Amino acid sequence: MKDYIKPFVPNVIYPIAQNIYDYLIFSKVRNLTDGKMKPQVYAYINYLAKHSYEYNILEIGAYRGGSTISAAKALKETQSESRVYSFEKQNIEHLTRNINSAGVENFVSVINDEVYSTEYKMPEIIKENAPYSMIIIDADGEIFKYIYLFQEYLIPGSVIVIDDYKPIRPFNRESGGKDYRTYLQTNMLVREGVIDKFRIKRHTFFGTISVDSPDLNIIESKMSDLYAHEEKIRKCEF
Ligand SMILES: C[S@@+](CC[C@H](N)C(=O)[O-])C[C@H]1O[C@@H](n2cnc3c(N)ncnc32)[C@H](O)[C@@H]1O
Repeated sequence: MKDYIKPFVPNVIYPIAQNIYDYLIFSKVRNLTDGKMKPQVYAYINYLAKHSYEYNILEIGAYRGGSTISAAKALKETQSESRVYSFEKQNIEHLTRNINSAGVENFVSVINDEVYSTEYKMPEIIKENAPYSMIIIDADGEIFKYIYLFQEYLIPGSVIVIDDYKPIRPFNRESGGKDYRTYLQTNMLVREGVIDKFRIKRHTFFGTISVDSPDLNIIESKMSDLYAHEEKIRKCEF
């Protein structure tokens, strides 16, 4: 909420007023960007980014900028010198236009590229601007791949935001998609102590990530076993 409004809001209704204010602001961001997350989730990303203002922020999967703008607004509001470094593989014309019209162009760098596998060669701009204190993953459900690649550039205890963390039913025919991979991979990473969960909001997972995590190669092989097991369960249905 803007500082000049705060003195006029009685303490007792302050939290409610703040929630309503956030809802309105981030509904606008969502409408502007055809956003894939709920306004409450954008508001929470903004809140967490305000506490990460000393370091840069990473994002994989900007689309038209909903989460990018929500995080960048926090950097602007805190007069931070940090930026959101955001990967997007599609055409970025619309994304760039939205970032400009939200007035956060000085707080975002878009990397128009696809992070394709664990063999991906990290762009110099990402290496040069490390470390990062927050990573937002909303791409293709390959959570493991992104942690594998970006882990070394994150500070210990960095915030991790993972969208489309949706419990799946084992026999759901839709379960081959992004939600399925996100749910299984995130749970595996929590079980193996790579990520600690602190909140789930509207199917978005919020946690912290440890850089002193176990060997990710071992986790990858466990993940393959898990997929093989899930595949067997799915085949039984048909
Ligand atoms: C669900 S949308 C992101 C929504 C966005 N976070 C928001 O708040 O509206 C996923 C985006 O990730 C991008 N994407 C998927 N896989 C990617 C990859 N490997 N590298 C870069 N971008 C990727 C897609 O092009 C798509 O625009």
